Amino acid sequence: MTAATALSVRGDGGGGRAVPRHVAIIMDGNGRWAKARFLPRIAGHRQGAEAVRRTVRAAGEIGIEVLTLYAFSSENWRRPVEEVSDLMGLLRHFLKAEVAELVANGARLRVIGDLARLDADVRALIDEAIARTASGTRLTLVLALNYGAQDELVRAARALAEEARAGTLVPEAIDVEEIEARLDTAGLPPVDLLIRTSGEVRLSNFLLWQAAYAELMFVDTLWPDFDAAALAEAVTRFGARERRFGGL
Ligand code: FPP
Repeated sequence: MTAATALSVRGDGGGGRAVPRHVAIIMDGNGRWAKARFLPRIAGHRQGAEAVRRTVRAAGEIGIEVLTLYAFSSENWRRPVEEVSDLMGLLRHFLKAEVAELVANGARLRVIGDLARLDADVRALIDEAIARTASGTRLTLVLALNYGAQDELVRAARALAEEARAGTLVPEAIDVEEIEARLDTAGLPPVDLLIRTSGEVRLSNFLLWQAAYAELMFVDTLWPDFDAAALAEAVTRFGARERRFGGL
């Protein structure tokens, strides 16, 4: 890639690659999907879990390397206790029932967020699913659980401060790479495409650092209706965008 194309690339990177390496999704609209059908909110979340399965499979087929899904935010604890419990129940089920499918799809699981607040049995299921999918090389599925970007940055800042206090890091050595190395997403590529479903136009504390140069896409589809075709359409639209990364 020449310097010129490096500064002004299409979604395909100028080299014919129209597929984003890292796609992140704010899965929104489960409640409205249920309400429109006079169903309880849990029914929407259940269909949302089905959409997760479809999307993970489609992401691998399209050639996306990393798919990050906002499954539970650090603010979602404010929901009624029954709904939090329902969401955790769906997560437990997913971690038990989907591991075989993840392995079959060559997917490896990773999580971001502050897991300390999750129940011990959920943490154990996460550890087990991560271990069982560790050899996956096609797709990295990142579940954001009790995740908030501000909280993630606070934890990274504290880690840096601790190292400075211990004398193992001088403040002058802190740069973009040193900060990235202490984020939950350390080692993952930056977000290329960030999708939010359900017509809401907000980032809601999701991957604020990692999405610095991401293409943002807000689609009206409610998350339970999201499918392979919707993902393919978003990827096609991404390929037509011109990415400048601050250049002209
Ligand atoms: C937003 O819809 C969605 C969530 C808060 C949780 C996302 C959870 C799932 C997709 C299901 C379980 C996930 C896994 C990984 C098994 P909302 O309830 O805010 O919808 P609304 O804005 O229409 O009320």
